[in-house]
Amino acid sequence: MNCRPFYLLAALALLGSCSGPVSNQQGYMPEQPIAFSHAIHAGHYEIDCQYCHVGAERSRHAGVPASSVCMNCHSRVKTDSPEIQKVAAAVQQGKPIEWVRVHRLPDHAFFSHANHVTAGLKCQTCHGPVEQMVRVEQVEPMTMGWCLECHRKTAAEQVSVAPSGAPRAGELLAVSMASPATEVEPAPAKPQRILSPPTDCSACHR
Ligand code: HEC
Ligand code: HEC
Ligand code: HEC
Ligand code: HEC
Ligand code: HEC
Repeated sequence: MNCRPFYLLAALALLGSCSGPVSNQQGYMPEQPIAFSHAIHAGHYEIDCQYCHVGAERSRHAGVPASSVCMNCHSRVKTDSPEIQKVAAAVQQGKPIEWVRVHRLPDHAFFSHANHVTAGLKCQTCHGPVEQMVRVEQVEPMTMGWCLECHRKTAAEQVSVAPSGAPRAGELLAVSMASPATEVEPAPAKPQRILSPPTDCSACHR
């Protein structure tokens, strides 16, 4: 009998038992200390991502909310739930909840949320349909090749973007179809930010 599969399984088991930063893996979906569901909160109740992940627009890390944020609602909502009682106990004891990190880049790679989110990228572009997830899963590979593919594609698309101030396709159509008497006021053009995602090594390896 070939014993290779056995070694493979043993190696996988070892990997699985490691709680360190091996989590940089597509499909990684660790169990969490509290059964928090994005499908309930961000999906069913449509709570805005940035209500809880306040750092996303202005700092490197989107961050995970403090338990006190949970208690904004759960001091009244579902107080009879054992899961909620765990959250309440943590707040009372002043202990943070030890959420298991899902996405993590190696230390030698630099990534900041701020520039990506203010460039207009949706969370879901990189994290998948989180609002449908009962437990968060890493959907994208988050490898260097993945980062670079979007950077190159974005840079290439920017070249073909019309200069700001020029009418956009929809506005042009509206203007061309309006009779001179009922002149259409074109919507004020949004100041467009020229996106230039870096592809040089030092941008991501500082
Ligand atoms: C009510 C608060 C709340 C809302 C709203 C919320 N989240 Fe979260 N999010 C959390 C908590 C708590 C965790 C940590 C536990 C977990 O992973 O489920 C988390 C974890 C995550 C993670 C994984 C972080 C890691 O460890 O890598 C991602 C990605 C994420 N949220 C994205 C989103 C997106 C996208 C939305 C909106 C569609 C959203 N969240 C809405 C509270 C929230
Ligand atoms: C804006 C209000 C709001 C915030 C903030 C909020 N939740 Fe909730 N949560 C709800 C609502 C509403 C429900 C559904 C209650 C129901 O099923 O009746 C819920 C359900 C839950 C449940 C399922 C409870 C059960 O036993 O069915 C858990 C667990 C939970 N929330 C944890 C959290 C955690 C952890 C946080 C903080 C990271 C949080 N919630 C923040 C409103 C909120
Ligand atoms: C361009 C891709 C991209 C976009 C867009 C993005 N993220 Fe992330 N996110 C990442 C990467 C990569 C990591 C891992 C970062 C690390 O390890 O330093 C991450 C990590 C996280 C984490 C874990 C803790 C942290 O802050 O590092 C949370 C929570 C999170 N993202 C939430 C969000 C939310 C909410 C949005 C939208 C407002 C969002 N992300 C938009 C790529 C993205
Ligand atoms: C879906 C597209 C997309 C993905 C995926 C993506 N980026 Fe970007 N990135 C952008 C855009 C767009 C900008 C340009 C923002 C600007 O010009 O202001 C940018 C800018 C940057 C910058 C320069 C601004 C800053 O934050 O310092 C760095 C560094 C960067 N990205 C790193 C990464 C890394 C590392 C990854 C992978 C983990 C990644 N990006 C994945 C689209 C992406
Ligand atoms: C847009 C961001 C980005 C740019 C630009 C970039 N890298 Fe990376 N690089 C990453 C990320 C993220 C990782 C970690 C994930 C991985 O290993 O794929 C990484 C990993 C690496 C690794 C470790 C690979 C491994 O197997 O452990 C090396 C070496 C590396 N990069 C070299 C370079 C060199 C050389 C350049 C310039 C030609 C460069 N990188 C440009 C984001 C970037």
